[in-house]
Amino acid sequence: MVFADPPYFLSNNGLSIQNGQIVSVNKGKWDKSHGFDYINKFNRNWLSKVRNVMKEDATIWISGTMHNIFSIGQILTELDFKILNIITWQKTNPPPNFSCRYFTYSTEQIIWARKSKKVPHYYNYELMKQLNDNKQMQDVWKLPAIAKWEKSCKKHPTQKPLSVLTRIIMASTKPNAWILDPFTGSSTTGIAANLANRRFLGIDQETDFLEISKCRKIEIENEKTAELYRKKISGFNTKTEYNKYLITEPKPIEKVSLGFCRKKDIPYLTNTNKFYFHAIEQNNFVQDFPTEILETKEIFLYQGGRGKPLFFTGHYGKIKEIKLKHKSQIKGKEKSRTEYYYEITLEHNFKYDKSILSRLEPKILFDKNDRTNKELLKKYLPAITTKEKVIENNKKKEKANAESHTHLQFAKTNSTSQKLQKSMSLPTLQTERKE
Ligand SMILES: C[S@@+](CC[C@H](N)C(=O)[O-])C[C@H]1O[C@@H](n2cnc3c(N)ncnc32)[C@H](O)[C@@H]1O
Repeated sequence: MVFADPPYFLSNNGLSIQNGQIVSVNKGKWDKSHGFDYINKFNRNWLSKVRNVMKEDATIWISGTMHNIFSIGQILTELDFKILNIITWQKTNPPPNFSCRYFTYSTEQIIWARKSKKVPHYYNYELMKQLNDNKQMQDVWKLPAIAKWEKSCKKHPTQKPLSVLTRIIMASTKPNAWILDPFTGSSTTGIAANLANRRFLGIDQETDFLEISKCRKIEIENEKTAELYRKKISGFNTKTEYNKYLITEPKPIEKVSLGFCRKKDIPYLTNTNKFYFHAIEQNNFVQDFPTEILETKEIFLYQGGRGKPLFFTGHYGKIKEIKLKHKSQIKGKEKSRTEYYYEITLEHNFKYDKSILSRLEPKILFDKNDRTNKELLKKYLPAITTKEKVIENNKKKEKANAESHTHLQFAKTNSTSQKLQKSMSLPTLQTERKE
């Protein structure tokens, strides 16, 4: 999911009232208006870039006011997004109108759109209903502007309240989801995401704002503070409702990696808990990089290929950490054709279980429409599945063993398995040693 609070381009030297004082509406240089053409060009540029990194079923929320929201709406349509809702956030405590010549400005708009017209999105209908007296949640949200306790790390000039971001995140993501905010400022999105057990990536051009973000992140690393903040967030029926709901949210199924290796790499791999896998070749697009690998908790090794069947070697390991590293950060790899590597650290060295020796059956290991992982497997790159599917794949082997004496017999004894492994011609290097 993406939440974006881009510049509204409203810093036009106007005046407003804050705490009874007349103040300038100017937010910073980044918010100065340069005319409609400039705003359109700016919005088209960042929206196309963000669209490229969104998953097919991902949604995007963009906040704005009359200064930028028409441009955003037009460009979303131009880029083929499907607009789902336009939320009106009605502030319960707006500042009075200074000129007394207009109605008080008390709302902001938040457009919710999805990337693909065809692929369905996620909506937590039941929770939204629960938060609205058991009636369907409507597209007008009455939530207060930012509260004092949210400014504990110095305030960003356009900081959003956690209540708005929490509702957005809870309505449109599942636990552990990745959330991106390309105009993160003080990272209200990130704080709301982490408080909700979701993951977050934020971008901003101003280091001062990123310092506020860091300070806020450090604050909520203390679980007591996090729990207290969850109690203070508006929009829930009781103070404890949010904490209670998060405990009951179903946890997502854990993913596992399937990592290709050559037979000659196995002695090395079983003697270390840190190794590298190819991630992105020079000609790949960053979009080809399967970020899902970073979510995996276990890795299973496989061999084979080049016309021969692919099979599990029986080696598996619990993953402690996976990092994406540029070749320049890895000694000895500076001149490699591969631009990026996954650096994988295991909790312990690989374990061996001969009952995992079985042929890889893509039909069992991957969902019908999971073309990405099927392709990765074909290229001997790390592919992602679930442990349940690896077990199911293995059961198929047992069934096949019982039914006939086929190639799968090699799983029965170590010596036959070794013979089979020896007879395989081994494909190009995909596993890399730590220098
Ligand atoms: C409206 S504020 C976001 C505030 C944020 N939602 C919060 O709660 O703190 C927009 C942010 O976009 C940043 N920004 C403006 N232009 C940018 C650009 N071209 N690239 C990256 N960040 C930019 C500004 O520094 C500012 O922090």
